[in-house]
Amino acid sequence: MRGKISQNLDFFLLEIKIVTMNIINLKTLKNRVQKEIKSAKDSDELENISKRYLGKKGELTRVLSSIGKLPKTKRARVGKGANELKNFLEQKIEEKRKKFQALSSKFQEEYFDITVPGKKPALGHLHPLTLIREKAEEIFQSIGFSVIEGPEVETEWYNFDALNIPKDHPARDMWATFWLKESANPKYKTRASKLLLRTHTSPVQIRYMEKNQPPIRIIVPGRVFRYEATDASHEINFYQLEGLMVDDKGKINAANFKAIIEEFLKRFIGKETKIRLRPSFFPFTEPSFEVDSLCLNCLGKGCSVCSQNGWLEIMGAGMVHPNVLKNAGLNPKWLAGFAFGMGLDRVAMMKYKIDDIRLFYSGDLRFLQQF
Ligand code: DAH
Repeated sequence: MRGKISQNLDFFLLEIKIVTMNIINLKTLKNRVQKEIKSAKDSDELENISKRYLGKKGELTRVLSSIGKLPKTKRARVGKGANELKNFLEQKIEEKRKKFQALSSKFQEEYFDITVPGKKPALGHLHPLTLIREKAEEIFQSIGFSVIEGPEVETEWYNFDALNIPKDHPARDMWATFWLKESANPKYKTRASKLLLRTHTSPVQIRYMEKNQPPIRIIVPGRVFRYEATDASHEINFYQLEGLMVDDKGKINAANFKAIIEEFLKRFIGKETKIRLRPSFFPFTEPSFEVDSLCLNCLGKGCSVCSQNGWLEIMGAGMVHPNVLKNAGLNPKWLAGFAFGMGLDRVAMMKYKIDDIRLFYSGDLRFLQQF
């Protein structure tokens, strides 16, 4: 019995101590809690602070519940101070809580998982026709040919006359031509030769021979234009690769040409293939021939790629006509050469088994992404 009373007394004294201590320290307490709230880094820390001071057994709660035990005189003052502090802290904690909530919803909005594999930026790549051109250039360069360029807007002289295709000659019908309107500007009106979009890369033969002495070994890749209706095998613009080799007469003949083209195709396609020469006509070569390659798609059986022929025409060629040499200022008495014009689109279609030339110029990513 005695023990219990003394225990109760001890407890009472302790309570009083707490209360007095806290009355004195109400201000210090306020400062301390405020600081803690301010520096709380997350809502867990904040809730701990709230529990420590305002929870059931919280420091301030205990002060408040002991108020009744204070002498009446002090009760009102301490009670008012403690209640004010309680309201104040509750408000501060709530404010901070809202801040954390806002932060967390903002974080969720902006959240991104740094462990998710990144999106690969779409990288472009070379167009199939560029790949083909570069491959052809590489092969011809390795056997001693230089890569030369010429203008896409050409004069009538270089595109036709110099190549032994005179005005009004029916051979001009072989090249449906985009003629350029004569300029109203007198500066250009006086031009001797009409302008056009080159119909083939052959004019560069003349341009090169005018300025360079044999031996000549060049290829001329480039874009050419035809005023034609388009279909699966015709486009208004496409790419050619011209070839020209000129040297002393007797050093050069059609057999050299055949060997070079066979070597080119073997390296280009990556395996042995067959070619055949058929007699043909071009005004700038004599004799002229057409070169066919065995269709790689069907190996000669006939399929849609080769229009059931078993063979694909890949270039026109021949021994350079003496008039062409003359027109370029070279003497056909001592010099001879062969020339060829290969359709780059054609060989690209053959290599990649493409059945419509228009796909190259459609800009369709589904097509382009396959290369
Ligand atoms: N220029 C001709 C064409 O566009 C192709 C050609 C044929 C070029 C024979 C040549 C050649 O150099 O010798 O149809």
